[in-house]
Amino acid sequence: MVSSLLIPALSAILAIASPIDNTQPRGTNPISIASAEFLGNQTADNSCSHRDLGFPGSINGKWYAVYGDTLWCAPGVTDPLKDDTSSFHGMVRDSVSLMTEDPLKVHDLFLNDDSPVPHQKQFVPYNASWGEDASWGFGGTSLCETDADAKEAAIFFLRNANDDGLKGAGIGRVKVLNGTPTVVERYGHNGYWWDSSTNPRYGDLLAYCDIWSDYIYAVGGAPTNVTDFIGSCYSYMVRVKKSEAFDLSKYQYWHGVQRGWSSTRLETFNSNTAIFWGVGQGQIVWNAHYDCYIFVHLSIAGDQVLLRTAKRPEGPWSADVKAYDVSSSSPGGGMAYAGVAYPYLDHSGQTLTVAYTKMPNCIEVVKLTFV
Ligand SMILES: *[C@@H]1O[C@H](CO)[C@@H](O)[C@H](O)[C@H]1NC(C)=O
Ligand SMILES: *[C@@H]1O[C@H](CO)[C@@H](O)[C@H](O)[C@H]1NC(C)=O
Ligand SMILES: *[C@@H]1O[C@H](CO)[C@@H](O)[C@H](O)[C@H]1NC(C)=O
Repeated sequence: MVSSLLIPALSAILAIASPIDNTQPRGTNPISIASAEFLGNQTADNSCSHRDLGFPGSINGKWYAVYGDTLWCAPGVTDPLKDDTSSFHGMVRDSVSLMTEDPLKVHDLFLNDDSPVPHQKQFVPYNASWGEDASWGFGGTSLCETDADAKEAAIFFLRNANDDGLKGAGIGRVKVLNGTPTVVERYGHNGYWWDSSTNPRYGDLLAYCDIWSDYIYAVGGAPTNVTDFIGSCYSYMVRVKKSEAFDLSKYQYWHGVQRGWSSTRLETFNSNTAIFWGVGQGQIVWNAHYDCYIFVHLSIAGDQVLLRTAKRPEGPWSADVKAYDVSSSSPGGGMAYAGVAYPYLDHSGQTLTVAYTKMPNCIEVVKLTFV
């Protein structure tokens, strides 16, 4: 009889000899789409801008969306469709809003004094003493609750120095102050933890606060030193207990199905240690109807909303089911990216309202009904 202790050792040796591609789809995807209804564009009820991303996350029962580039509309304009887009009216690299029961209407937070229409200030502030300025990109995803009673959350972000390249992925502590999620502290030397030349950009693709465990999960793109096309399309996962999210030493790195979680940083980047290949920004949500996690994201071509499923956030993940053709909402197409979902709108999970950013900077909302 073969000792069961030998089996993990043997599989580790086999994995080195011929790495198993852990990004290939596994299992069956139970999703079947009954209908997909285009609801419209998402706008704010108290400010006006063109924005992208809008990753939802909840703190103490309230849902907030974190946006990326937020281009202010011209002074006084309240409808983005009536904006004069031939000139520039100012922008911030990220912003935060309160979600409402209507996925087409958000209430913008952290506003400036512009009158008669105020505009959003930058959610994750730049810090000049770390060499940053207002032009630096941010690359943030969902707020992840770390302490409900204290109304605290973590935000993962990726510092992007534009022509100077990506710097690194980091985390900020967020506290709800006077109803507004506010970044009160950023961690790490120069305000980030994971130098992106040699570490994955943890959290730049998605961040998920698990409803079934104590963990926050985050996925990020390959280190920038990986320059071949295939290698640069893999993404990697970390997790940390919600109560320990601000302590870098408590993070666990996913080393692939054969080796599992480890507090040793990942230094081998390939199909065996990756979680996904060729996916952009998206969102993981739990779905009660199918009793599984759903990863909402867009196809590489940006023309379809795709849903894949798993029993655990670290997978294995199934193949994608096509949920919606982006060209249905506006014939002639347009590239879309950054899939998000609003699971709180239907706790039964029979429907899932999703959204994505149609280029340039228009967030479109679609309601999916499952069989
Ligand atoms: C959504 O916004 C786009 C421009 O960003 C516009 O062309 C389209 O008509 C809008 N759709 C609706 C339903 O308002
Ligand atoms: C900005 O950086 C300085 C220098 O490291 C640091 O002392 C300060 O706390 C940072 N400010 C914020 C708001 O993070
Ligand atoms: C990553 O790439 C940079 C720029 O090419 C190089 O200076 C650095 O040594 C590389 N780091 C590693 C660990 O390979």
